[in-house]
Amino acid sequence: MKKLKVCIVGLGFAGSVHTDAYNSIPDKVKIVGVCDMNREKAEMMSKSYDTKAYTDYREMLKKEKPDIVDVCVPHHAHAEVVVAAANAGANVIVEKPLAPNLEDANRMIEATKKAKVKFMVAEDQLFLPAHRMAKDLIDKGAIGKIFMARALSVVCDKPVEQNAWQLDPRNLGVLMDMGVHYFMALDWLVGEIESVNAMKEKVVVDLKGKEYDDNAFTILKFKNGALGEVALTSCAVTEQYNRLEFYGTEGTILIDHSWEKPLMYHSTHPETMTNGWVRPDVEHLTYPGYYPIAFGYEVKHFVDCVLKNKKPDVTGEYGRRAVNVALTAYKSAKSGKIQKVENVD
Ligand SMILES: NC(=O)c1ccc[n+]([C@@H]2O[C@H](COP(=O)([O-])OP(=O)(O)OC[C@H]3O[C@@H](n4cnc5c(N)ncnc54)[C@H](O)[C@@H]3O)[C@@H](O)[C@H]2O)c1
Repeated sequence: MKKLKVCIVGLGFAGSVHTDAYNSIPDKVKIVGVCDMNREKAEMMSKSYDTKAYTDYREMLKKEKPDIVDVCVPHHAHAEVVVAAANAGANVIVEKPLAPNLEDANRMIEATKKAKVKFMVAEDQLFLPAHRMAKDLIDKGAIGKIFMARALSVVCDKPVEQNAWQLDPRNLGVLMDMGVHYFMALDWLVGEIESVNAMKEKVVVDLKGKEYDDNAFTILKFKNGALGEVALTSCAVTEQYNRLEFYGTEGTILIDHSWEKPLMYHSTHPETMTNGWVRPDVEHLTYPGYYPIAFGYEVKHFVDCVLKNKKPDVTGEYGRRAVNVALTAYKSAKSGKIQKVENVD
């Protein structure tokens, strides 16, 4: 079988885990180039993965003619790399958030459509085995109609350098960076979000002159009537964790990625009835150990979509929806009012 030629752009945290994921499926892909504007990083990665190093992605596209380009640069740079890759005829997977604004999101969707290439947003929340199990339980009706859902994400990742890309005003703050994970996961698991009421603050990060939300709350109303909440902090002084809770008319699902068995559920539905809480076996490593598992599945999914000519599960349009909810949350935080999520599809 012909192997797909893969190039990775941006070799920080996300780029390293993605590169490892491609390296684990050598029968399907060959990593033909890695690129980072930081030469040292590019050369180090090229040695580790026995491939070519580039500091200019345009040169890499021209020389390697990849089948897949995996984009792991900071949010504000996603669009320029995705559009260039699509114009070069490559299928593209880009890290979340699709973009920190709708103009960039639209540009990427249009360019990939015009080039007739596959396009996927790498949203790891949709590839976590515990979340896939929750989806299966919810779809089977195990907890009935969901009336409330909560997400809590607690990380210790506050930007400390004045020139950190996270503090570039184009990238906004945790409502965008962390929020899109949960806006998309809740859209997928509960339903489309109708309106939001958000509060955000720069509470802990003390770099001067920077507009950056490091802590945020968003209250959600879903189109199906359910209520939800997303609480985010990047400043926790603790082990990191994240948690999802789903309350339905016939049961409850709790997921906490700091647990060895991350999912427990209680069901009164006749076909899935439990005797109290059950904790099924599920592939998992406590957060942040789960990244290689989730990234592994998302990369394999995209590779299979390219090989089998299938539409990816997480399209550009779906990524744009989560970005739109985050932007609406910013509007709400600024106005102090509940904001309706406008349709951008
Ligand atoms: N799915 C997840 O859970 C997850 C986790 C971490 C990061 N991410 C996403 O991945 C993206 C990158 O985040 P990160 O934490 O890996 O950042 P990072 O700072 O660790 O790495 C980014 C890298 O991109 C390089 N870079 C920037 N602009 C470039 C350009 N034009 N050409 C080539 N290289 C360039 C930088 O030199 C840096 O090495 C962000 O959009 C972020 O939201 C997602």
